[in-house]
Amino acid sequence: MKIKLILCMGSSCYARGNEDNLDLINRYLEDNNLSEYVDFRGQLCCGDCQHGPVLHIADEKIVDLDSSSITKILDESLMKLVKQRVDKK
Ligand code: FES
Repeated sequence: MKIKLILCMGSSCYARGNEDNLDLINRYLEDNNLSEYVDFRGQLCCGDCQHGPVLHIADEKIVDLDSSSITKILDESLMKLVKQRVDKK
């Protein structure tokens, strides 16, 4: 099963940065050839607008997502999970 990566595309998160974050994440996944391991999708408002923009990486909820730190977050949280999948093969 692929790792679920879910970006909140509700109007609040979208306006507060997830429009740009969407592009950054897509580019990251492409640059690192992660389509085999990651199921990236958007979702409607997850009810945490005051802490948005929101991103879910598997069971982890990232709040106040900032485009300047997104690569670091993906490197640390997502790539750790990807590495576990690769090691199991
Ligand atoms: S719009 Fe993202 S939590 Fe509401």
